Amino acid sequence: MARTPTHADGYDAKGARRIYPSPENNKGPILEVLKTVLPSSGFVLEVGAGSGQHTAHFAAHFSGLEWQATEPEPDLRTSIAAWIDYAGIENAPAPLELDCREDHWPVDQADAVISSNMIHISPWASCVGLIAGAARILGKGGILYIYGPFSEGGVHTSPGNANFNAALKSRNPEYGVRDLDDVTTLAKDHGFALERRVSMPSNNLSLIYRKS
Ligand SMILES: C[S@@+](CC[C@H](N)C(=O)[O-])C[C@H]1O[C@@H](n2cnc3c(N)ncnc32)[C@H](O)[C@@H]1O
Repeated sequence: MARTPTHADGYDAKGARRIYPSPENNKGPILEVLKTVLPSSGFVLEVGAGSGQHTAHFAAHFSGLEWQATEPEPDLRTSIAAWIDYAGIENAPAPLELDCREDHWPVDQADAVISSNMIHISPWASCVGLIAGAARILGKGGILYIYGPFSEGGVHTSPGNANFNAALKSRNPEYGVRDLDDVTTLAKDHGFALERRVSMPSNNLSLIYRKS
């Protein structure tokens, strides 16, 4: 018989909102960076929003922005919707289905695209899809924000990141910590310049690309 999920399983008591430690820990530091980057009004597309913990936290702070979460996994879209409902926020519409590798996204214009902890837990094609899609929907001056672990110059920046990379690759050989140079070269090919990189807790980076 199915067991009612509990907080310890990563769910709230009703089993609707998934609660994971990683977004709980990094939502504060990411928000501090986003405060310095995002406009006060406009449209933000969140790619690979996962549980929705970020969506609820960020949308609540940026009440002048329309915050559109997207996520390919149906169960996670249910969790995102539950977080939006729980947080009582009105500037976050229902989550949309999006695998960023698709050529056609459900939104054709945005002021910013953000994606955290996605490009390493997915094949490289997802990083290509994220950047190509962001380039299609962002206008001049639009922001692409990417958060996660990165190697630099082909070298892992900590033993923890090297171990994490090995664990990712044992799960799926196409996964892996991406190199900052590879991502920035790809972004440049799509019309983005790396405006800022911010060191984050636990050897992660915030990368802020702006479309020219
Ligand atoms: C580790 S979770 C991170 C979730 C959330 N952004 C966070 O930081 O807590 C990675 C998410 O990316 C999504 N994802 C993986 N590949 C994707 C793709 N090609 N396009 C869009 N989302 C993708 C997964 O379904 C998952 O929800």
